[in-house]
Amino acid sequence: MRIIVGISGASGTILAKKMLLSLKMIPEMETHLVMSNGADETLGLELDTPREELISLADEFHPIEDITANIASGSFRTAGMVVIPCSMKTLAGIVQGYSDNLLLRAADVCIKERRKLVLVAREMPLSSIHLENMLKASQFGAIIMPPMLTFYNHPETIDDLVNHLIGKVLMQFDLDFESFRPWRGG
Ligand SMILES: Cc1cc2nc3c(=O)[nH]c(=O)nc-3n(C[C@H](O)[C@H](O)[C@H](O)COP(=O)(O)O)c2cc1C
Repeated sequence: MRIIVGISGASGTILAKKMLLSLKMIPEMETHLVMSNGADETLGLELDTPREELISLADEFHPIEDITANIASGSFRTAGMVVIPCSMKTLAGIVQGYSDNLLLRAADVCIKERRKLVLVAREMPLSSIHLENMLKASQFGAIIMPPMLTFYNHPETIDDLVNHLIGKVLMQFDLDFESFRPWRGG
């Protein structure tokens, strides 16, 4: 199984790191990573993890400008893509089909091939532009999963909050995550 992980310049690079770590634990999983220039900025500001270490978590890393990469083509089969976190700029690019970098192109391919596209869209507060773009992305088939806080699982650490979000995203691909505690009834 192949999954594309796109990281853009919204806050929350810790989510991307956890996603890559979680996918790495799944046998037979092949991950393809593409990071926007904005993601490079936020990574340096938010995480202690060096860029090279993050990249090494993926099976294949594709430079953002490499529009010839395998993931730029629909003939390269994947289970889909998660953009985590997804900035409002990248969201806008996806919604407009404005594929001027590899992350946007890979997302565009998922939409045209009717493959799973999960957008962990992050901004606060959300403007009408952002909300309209999220609605359009949803209408184009994308799953919109903002990194919302969840408390019914009684999180005690940031890791607990992150794990819940990762578990919910992996569920979209029918994948289990051992650190995820689903609701089992009240
Ligand atoms: C520390 C930091 C946090 C940011 N957080 C967000 C955010 O949560 N959401 C967002 O849409 N943009 C955020 N931005 C702005 C984006 O990084 C910026 O719009 C960038 O151009 C996005 O480009 P990209 O989508 O190609 O990564 C943040 C920027 C910085 C430096």
